[in-house]
Amino acid sequence: MRKKIVAGNWKMNTTLQEGLALAKGLNEALKDKTPKCDVIVGTPFTHLACVADAIDTNKIGVAAQNCADHEKGAYTGEVSAAMVASTGAKYVILGHSERRQYYGETAEILKTKVNLALANGLTPIFCIGEVLEEREAGKHFDVVDEQIKGSLFDLSAEDFGKIVIAYEPVWAIGTGKTATADQAQEIHAHIRKTIASKYEQTIADNCSILYGGSMNAGNAKELVSKPDVDGGLIGGASLSVENFMPIVEAF
Ligand code: PGA
Repeated sequence: MRKKIVAGNWKMNTTLQEGLALAKGLNEALKDKTPKCDVIVGTPFTHLACVADAIDTNKIGVAAQNCADHEKGAYTGEVSAAMVASTGAKYVILGHSERRQYYGETAEILKTKVNLALANGLTPIFCIGEVLEEREAGKHFDVVDEQIKGSLFDLSAEDFGKIVIAYEPVWAIGTGKTATADQAQEIHAHIRKTIASKYEQTIADNCSILYGGSMNAGNAKELVSKPDVDGGLIGGASLSVENFMPIVEAF
């Protein structure tokens, strides 16, 4: 059966010292617990190796928030998938709406990043989601279909089976405005159907589809109670142990 996952996306927050303290705090909070979901922290690049060293990575997976669209070489300032993997990180968040919007990441660029991540043994957490105008125009189903097809549908079934999807309606990110559990369920079920139309039903059934966008201690339980919502990608509420742990415990 598919995995339940709660993943933090720290974005560009925390110094190295603050991030280490946060990761250690989470490690401590989980020490004597067996969560009913996989727990992941998505840290800035600068923190990856230290965080991976400081925590029990069997219990908490470490994710980068991006990787380069080239293997290596003269790309000043970039961080490759191989470099991410060499820190002990096992995941990489790709295609976050902030990357698409502010850094011009296209479907084609993201396809390359996904391939490089997989080639380096990283699990991509691939983000999709519509903006408000698209939702209001009733285009959200088409938008997510295009995002999936444009970056993922050239993958073999075996490789697609390694992908985690995060549905994040852009209008819900950092706004305090969450999709209702019914809205999340509706589009997650649609996404699963889209996957099944290309790959086998078992591949679709085994794919973890996370919800993201103002998920917090108060709304997590209802969201993850839906059959096609397999967990969450958490921004703001992942920045403290007190806010993050109740989401982990929502399962
Ligand atoms: P948020 O961010 O939880 O702060 O809305 C989610 C995300 O962008 O991954």
